[in-house]
Amino acid sequence: MATAALPSQSTEDAAPAGSAPAAIAAALTRSPTTADGALLGTYRRAPETFVRGEGVRLFDSQGAAYLDFTSGIGVIALGHDDAGVRAAMQDALDAGLVHVSNLFRSAPGERLAEALVERSFADRVFFCNSGAEANEGAFKFARRWARERGGAAKHEIIALRGSFHGRLFGTVAATDRAQYRNPFRPLAGGISIAERDIEELALRLTPDTAAALILEPVQGEGGVRVLDAGFLREVRALTSERDVALILDEVQCGFGRTGSLFAHEQSGIEPDMLTIAKPMAGGLPMGAVLLREHIAQAIQPGDHGSTFAGGPFVSSVALHVLDRVSDPELLAHVAETGAWLGHELRALGERTGRVRAVRGRGFMWGLDVHMPVAGIIAAARDRGLLLLSAGDYTLRLLPPLVATREDLAYGLSILEGVLG
Ligand SMILES: Cc1ncc(COP(=O)(O)O)c(C=O)c1O
Repeated sequence: MATAALPSQSTEDAAPAGSAPAAIAAALTRSPTTADGALLGTYRRAPETFVRGEGVRLFDSQGAAYLDFTSGIGVIALGHDDAGVRAAMQDALDAGLVHVSNLFRSAPGERLAEALVERSFADRVFFCNSGAEANEGAFKFARRWARERGGAAKHEIIALRGSFHGRLFGTVAATDRAQYRNPFRPLAGGISIAERDIEELALRLTPDTAAALILEPVQGEGGVRVLDAGFLREVRALTSERDVALILDEVQCGFGRTGSLFAHEQSGIEPDMLTIAKPMAGGLPMGAVLLREHIAQAIQPGDHGSTFAGGPFVSSVALHVLDRVSDPELLAHVAETGAWLGHELRALGERTGRVRAVRGRGFMWGLDVHMPVAGIIAAARDRGLLLLSAGDYTLRLLPPLVATREDLAYGLSILEGVLG
């Protein structure tokens, strides 16, 4: 029995009826899950071993080429083996310093923090090594700030239906996915899920007990759901009124993916904290929490930390990536080509009759389909296209931001062949 490249991930999907086309049925019977060897079996890995990447393409150990619409799950925003990223890595190596720890000052991390502050709402930056770590940090900062304002009772962290904020111990409690949560109960306390509904939030966000609300402006793993700008503005007004910190998780939708440097810019709101990670350092592990001064003021030495975070090597590479994803030309490309991609996906859906809904923005799209996506992903891979899931019945496309219309059109022709 074959499996998808990624585990299925939604609590919201209802199984629609529909029989699989022959290519999908064949891929499901042919494509086995590889053994994990010495690796712990936390992923269902696809059988291919990739040995090289170039732009929007990956090459496997047999020499076969694949169009990569996964970007390493939203990481490789500038494409594989990008010359600028490669040069930034080489320059950082030549500078002769990979790591010093946060006990000492180091220029690249300070410069990166300044650049992030200049290009955002934020006054301060905390570096870490992943998206889940960034959210865990934001939860701690919110509680530290809230305790000063309302004592220990003001500690609750609320996340939204359909959310994914990571799988560490605190973040899994803020992730709305039964299969990730249930095996680990009891979960961390004081963290709960609310509907994406302003009236429910008005009941839940009481100033005496709520410390923070966390949400993704575009929910990724939960099915690629673009939260309405009006809803985001109501949420901002409510959290300000109730003295609750608003944390935006742009780990997946930030850094250019939706056509602006940060996705929330398009709704005109500013959070109290923002978390970013995936594409930050060109494939190296890095995350960050961006904070406004009133939260930052509550944080004392020793409140949080990380041995590796914000080191000179990774920060030098991230400075280069930040410059590239801030480039107005690249952002315009993502916005314009992304709008075209959405139009093409809707047209593909109508032609094949196998797509129930198309959602997304920029280079982040989800397609609800009439059959489990595991088979579609395996069949597309057989034909040289790498896709993601966002739940059992939602395909997710996260192409590198540098993909051209020709690259995207080629990928869509493969997808249409599979669905048809
Ligand atoms: C929105 C969002 N937040 C947090 C995370 C967790 O990031 P990481 O896997 O780097 O811990 C992810 C990962 O997919 C994500 O999409």
